[in-house]
Amino acid sequence: MTSTTSTHPILVRTIRGVLQEGSMQVGRFEAAVLLAHVIGKRREYLIAHDDEELSDESVLRFQMLVSLRLAGTPVPYLTGRQEFFGRNFFVDDAVLIPRPDTEVLVEQTLVVAPAAPKVLDLGTGSGCIAVTLALEMPGSTVVATDASEKALVVARKNAEALEAAVEFRSGSWWEAVGDETFDIIVSNPPYIREDDEHLKALGCEPITALTSPENGLADLKAIVAGAMAHLNPNGWLLLEHGYDQGEAVREALLEAGFAAVHTKRDYGDNERVTSGRRPN
Ligand SMILES: C[S@@+](CC[C@H](N)C(=O)[O-])C[C@H]1O[C@@H](n2cnc3c(N)ncnc32)[C@H](O)[C@@H]1O
Repeated sequence: MTSTTSTHPILVRTIRGVLQEGSMQVGRFEAAVLLAHVIGKRREYLIAHDDEELSDESVLRFQMLVSLRLAGTPVPYLTGRQEFFGRNFFVDDAVLIPRPDTEVLVEQTLVVAPAAPKVLDLGTGSGCIAVTLALEMPGSTVVATDASEKALVVARKNAEALEAAVEFRSGSWWEAVGDETFDIIVSNPPYIREDDEHLKALGCEPITALTSPENGLADLKAIVAGAMAHLNPNGWLLLEHGYDQGEAVREALLEAGFAAVHTKRDYGDNERVTSGRRPN
């Protein structure tokens, strides 16, 4: 009996062939991630199974993903996943793709948090921060908000898949939490200037997750303005911000009456996370 579908050598020749057609603009690493996604395996599988055959359908799907990548779609939107703090999060174009620099915000939170804290994550996006904190701090109570209903759908999906107990609320910044108070408030708000030239490279991600008026500082300032009233005594506010916004955020926290104000640098040695404690 003859098969109606032809087959193709899996790794080296398929990737090389498709990349050549695509003028080599997609790197081999990304290509391997996309091919592994198409066949539903981990990337390492490709290396160990170089002699397996691929169906026509898989090759076509791989070619389509490479074309989309060449057109500028980020790999996580093509595979639907991004790793954050050692866990896989589902992502689509309703949410910002979680960044490694945001892990600094999580690390700093774990350093200052008391046992079993009540935590608020403002602007949760994919839920990466809220879900990670809920799982890393047993006994914590985590509330997460977003103004985007579509983002909240993604965040809920991640909390469910990773079995994290997070309560999600819809609303703009402080509106979503009334007069409730917390031990820890974290946020990675939009902080890119509206005229920033780097935005061109981020065209697939939701603009509402990226930019903020007033040189990128408007949302950071809105969060600082309401934070003291929503923190328990000795509670901490931790904010991710742009590499050149550390001084402005420290000033805003000091003006609002925060103590122990300091900034942590990210893995690229840029000022990235500024925190402060509500005095007793
Ligand atoms: C930079 S993204 C961060 C997403 C996620 N926390 C992360 O670190 O990957 C900012 C998030 O804030 C949300 N956001 C923007 N304006 C908001 C507002 N006024 N109130 C609440 N959330 C808002 C966006 O929808 C987006 O999900």
